Amino acid sequence: MGKLKSSLAFLVLAFAFFLCFIMSTGSYDYFQFVQQWPPTNCRVRTKCSNPRPLQYFTIHGLWPSNYSNPKMPSNCIGSQFNESRVYPYLRPKLKISWPDVESGNDTKFWEGEWNKHGTCSERILNQMQYFQRSQAMWKSHNISEILKNASIVPHPTQTWTYSDIVSPIKTATKKTPLLRCKYDKKTQLLYEVVFCYGYNALKHIDCNRTAGCRNQQAISFQ
Ligand SMILES: *[C@@H]1O[C@H](CO)[C@@H](O)[C@H](O)[C@H]1NC(C)=O
Ligand SMILES: *[C@@H]1O[C@H](CO)[C@@H](O)[C@H](O)[C@H]1NC(C)=O
Ligand SMILES: *[C@@H]1O[C@H](CO)[C@@H](O)[C@H](O)[C@H]1NC(C)=O
Ligand SMILES: *[C@@H]1O[C@H](CO)[C@@H](O)[C@H](O)[C@H]1NC(C)=O
Ligand SMILES: *[C@@H]1O[C@H](CO)[C@@H](O)[C@H](O)[C@H]1NC(C)=O
Ligand SMILES: *[C@@H]1O[C@H](CO)[C@@H](O)[C@H](O)[C@H]1NC(C)=O
Repeated sequence: MGKLKSSLAFLVLAFAFFLCFIMSTGSYDYFQFVQQWPPTNCRVRTKCSNPRPLQYFTIHGLWPSNYSNPKMPSNCIGSQFNESRVYPYLRPKLKISWPDVESGNDTKFWEGEWNKHGTCSERILNQMQYFQRSQAMWKSHNISEILKNASIVPHPTQTWTYSDIVSPIKTATKKTPLLRCKYDKKTQLLYEVVFCYGYNALKHIDCNRTAGCRNQQAISFQ
């Protein structure tokens, strides 16, 4: 009887550990590839000690995401960032596509994104692949150019609707993106454009989460 009890306890414990393991190594449904508009970042965040208001969309991060739990997963158990695992040929490219627009320490930004997000999808993308895939995603569509061709260019007073901005991107990429906005007082500013990718980070898919901008309110792009 005692033996049965302890083996039962062992099973329960093992299962609990298994669950913890699954949760902490990160399970996710899809990826969000997030690109930001640096001038908006530096306008609404006080952390921009060394503002580099670059006039093109730069990478914020590649985030394994969960449909039912928007905040998850993050900070999973996995290998911590190691700069020598970013291919040397890739580093100068990432300095253009994935710069730290707030403090200017690009490596620190990559470190933060890997440790917070990359660790949650390490089974699919190791650190080398994570940065390589992100660079390829950035190269695959030039958001600045897509918007420019649709006459959506930074302007101090002009505004657009959510669908004005989404439509040309959807036409060019054949997939629905997501827009995120930030507020400066009452002005709704375009901040980020999100592309969604399937579990293996290969297939570009429609984003189906609700928008991070107020749909009914005009959007400024400055
Ligand atoms: C998403 O999050 C929910 C709630 O935390 C969890 O139950 C579910 O297992 C997660 N799904 C995946 C695929 O990670
Ligand atoms: C970083 O990665 C390199 C190459 O894989 C490896 O030789 C080195 O030991 C790693 N450093 C740490 C601190 O893990
Ligand atoms: C930039 O960040 C990296 C990683 O955190 C750190 O090792 C390095 O010392 C920082 N460089 C500067 C100039 O602060
Ligand atoms: C993206 O398009 C903009 C506007 O046409 C252009 O200035 C920029 O060089 C392009 N970037 C890349 C990486 O091709
Ligand atoms: C933007 O327009 C230029 C000139 O018509 C064209 O060459 C280019 O392919 C277009 N780019 C996109 C992303 O639609
Ligand atoms: C988004 O699509 C996925 C996969 O088709 C589905 O599982 C999920 O429930 C959808 N989420 C929302 C909010 O529609």
